[in-house]
Amino acid sequence: MSIEFNFKDKNVFVVGGTSGINFGIACGFARWGANVVVASRKQDKVDKAVQTLTELGAKANGIALDVRNYDEVVTGFDKAAEYLGGSIDVLISGAAGNFPARVNDMSANAIRSVIEIDLLGTFHVMKACFQHLTKPGASVINISAPQAFLPMEHQAHVCAAKAGVDMVTRTLCMEWGSAGIRLNSIVPGPIGDTEGMDRLAPTPDLQKAVGHSVPLGRLGSVDDVANAAGLLASDAAAYISGAILPVDGGWSQSGATAVMGKMSSILDKMNK
Ligand code: NAP
Ligand code: COA
Repeated sequence: MSIEFNFKDKNVFVVGGTSGINFGIACGFARWGANVVVASRKQDKVDKAVQTLTELGAKANGIALDVRNYDEVVTGFDKAAEYLGGSIDVLISGAAGNFPARVNDMSANAIRSVIEIDLLGTFHVMKACFQHLTKPGASVINISAPQAFLPMEHQAHVCAAKAGVDMVTRTLCMEWGSAGIRLNSIVPGPIGDTEGMDRLAPTPDLQKAVGHSVPLGRLGSVDDVANAAGLLASDAAAYISGAILPVDGGWSQSGATAVMGKMSSILDKMNK
């Protein structure tokens, strides 16, 4: 089903927006008429994403940056504002790293790498974005994960980092509300054809089992998440701020815990 929003002439920046769910969100805003800038570490991914966004009809541009490096993030926002020719109306922050491993099998650096990308990276993006946001009116969406509120074996680093991301969302919705800025988190459920899903459910059989464990009976699509981002960024959500919105077919209510034992034992076998 094709959902229509009107973001004509709106400026959208998607950090971590060159593949998977976040790129799907960038494509959604491109189809809805926005000017779109994407950023991530790898220049080749940035170039490819910009090409597709341009083909979708957007005035598009891209920036190579690592969210772990605050100076790169600050420079990235300066460039994004220059490309967009004005303030940022919609900011999506979704850069993340993940690999399945038990705490006993992770080095201190392995834990640090995920906390630095997901949580510290979110802080860097939030701190650098404020001066460039449209005030009043900007919508900021942080991309979280069910691990933020559901403990999962092999995911302690992501659980801790994404729980932190949601608290950043909730706190900044208070600190920035008076500037007319709304902040919300989207919590994607298991989304098909994505890196995150392939890493956590690395066999077709397991992906099928995960799909069956979702109350709506299927894996989500990147368009499901893009549509939720369009809704949260639109005027229809003008009074929604500080929400942590699961876009997961109901998975985090019960299905997630039902399939976790199976996921865990397969990941244990693969990590041996
Ligand atoms: P993905 O395709 O790997 O997307 C991650 C994006 O972040 C890529 O564009 C990547 O590009 C960028 N990135 C990674 N590290 C970065 C860094 N240090 N600095 C800047 N950019 C960086 O994965 P995905 O599965 O679509 O996940 C997207 C988001 O959805 C993540 O926040 C994830 O936690 C969340 N999520 C996913 C699922 C799922 O089912 N897939 C479920 C729940 C939540 P580069 O490699 O070029 O840096
Ligand atoms: N199990 C245990 N440790 C692991 C691991 C695994 N499966 N994969 C990586 N690590 C460790 C590395 O060994 C390293 O620790 P060490 O220095 O003590 O050896 C540490 O994690 C950092 O790895 P490195 O490859 O140097 O980091 P990076 O900065 O290049 O990449 C990652 C960061 C590891 C998160 C990488 O997976 C990544 O870039 N991910 C982005 C894409 C992604 O994860 N998408 C899904 C989003 S939900």
